[in-house]
Amino acid sequence: MSVLVAGGGLIGLAVAWRAARRGLSVIVVDEDPGSGASRAAAGMLAPLTEAAYGEEALRALSRTSLDRYPAFLAELAADGGGTVALRTAGTLEVGFDADDMAALDRLHTYYLESGLPVERLTASQARRREPALSPRVRGALHAASDHSIDPRALHAALFEAASAVGVHIVRSRIAELVVTDGRATGLRLAGGSELTGSPVVLALGAWSGTLPGAPPLPVRPVKGQILRLRGDEGLLTGTVRALVRGRSVYLVPYAADRLVVGATTEELGFDATVTAGAVHDLLRDAIEVVPDVAELELVETLARWRPGTPDNAPLLGPSPLPGLVLATGHYRNGVLLTPATADAIADLLTVGALPDYAAPFTADGRMP
Ligand code: GLY
Repeated sequence: MSVLVAGGGLIGLAVAWRAARRGLSVIVVDEDPGSGASRAAAGMLAPLTEAAYGEEALRALSRTSLDRYPAFLAELAADGGGTVALRTAGTLEVGFDADDMAALDRLHTYYLESGLPVERLTASQARRREPALSPRVRGALHAASDHSIDPRALHAALFEAASAVGVHIVRSRIAELVVTDGRATGLRLAGGSELTGSPVVLALGAWSGTLPGAPPLPVRPVKGQILRLRGDEGLLTGTVRALVRGRSVYLVPYAADRLVVGATTEELGFDATVTAGAVHDLLRDAIEVVPDVAELELVETLARWRPGTPDNAPLLGPSPLPGLVLATGHYRNGVLLTPATADAIADLLTVGALPDYAAPFTADGRMP
C-alpha cells in the first residue's frame, strides 16, 4: 500500500522524499506542483526575525528545522537534487524614525531571550554591512543566524530527488478525500478515478481546509503579494528587513542579481489580484530602504496564500480522522519548517510516532 501525499509544494515533496528514502512507496498528487505558496515564498530562514512575541514554541521548532538544513541539503544533492545554496550572511533589521528605533530596542530584548546571536548596530555599522542601505536608516539589529534560500531552486531539487528515489507524481486535481468505514483510504481525482493508499498526508497548504471529505481544519488563506526584481550583482549580501516609519518590508537577495521584495498580509480569502496599491507600497518602502532598488527591473509580481492557523503554528501528525496525517498550516514559515516537518512526518509514517520536537504541534485541542 502506498502513502498518498496530497500536495506537491515544498512540504508535500519533502515529506514524500524523506518517506521514500526510508523505503516507503509514495505517491504525490498535485495538478501543478509548486505553484502555490512555494512559488511566492521569499525563502527567509529566520527563527529570530520572523518570530512574533509569544511564539517561543514555534521559534524552537524553527531552530530545529534550521539546524537540519545543511544535512537536508547535502542529502538532497546526494539523491540527485543538485546543489541548493544556503545564504548565510544573516539578516539586518533596520528602522527610520524614533518609533522604529523603540520597536527595534524591544525586539532586541526579546531576541536576546532566544540565545541566538543578535547585535544592535548603529546606522554606520549597518551600512558597513550593507553599503546599499539608505543614509536615512537610523539604526539596526543584526541577526547572524537568520539565513535564506531560493525556494524555487529548493522545490526543483526536491522534485528531482523525490523522483530519483521512486516517488510517483500524479499531476491531477484532487476532487475529494475517500473515506471508508471512518478511515481515509484514498483520493478521488477530478476525472473520477480513485487512488487508494494509506495513510493520506494532507499537505495542501492554504487549501488544506477546503478538501471535501476531510474534517474541518483551522487553516485559512492569508494573501501575500510579492515582487521579484533583477539588476546589479551584489546589491545586498543578506536579507534586509525594515520598519519604515512603522510599515514593514523585507528585501531578500536570492541570487547574485535577484531580489525579492515582500510582502503584504491580507485576509481576503483566495483573492489572487495583484493590486497597484500593494506594488506601489512595497516599491516605495523598498526604495526608501535601498535607494538603488529604483534602478532594478521589476520582473514579476505575484499573489499567493499562506496557510494561516489561529496560533500561527503548523499542524503536524495525526488528525481526528484515522488514516489522515496533517502536514500543513505553516503560515509564514513553510520554507524554514520544511526539513523538520518532513523528518517528523517520515518518523510518524515509519516508526509510528512523532519526534519530541513536533509534539507541541499536533492537532490535539486545536481543531475548530
Ligand atoms: N515569511 C515571509 C512572509 O510570509 O511574508
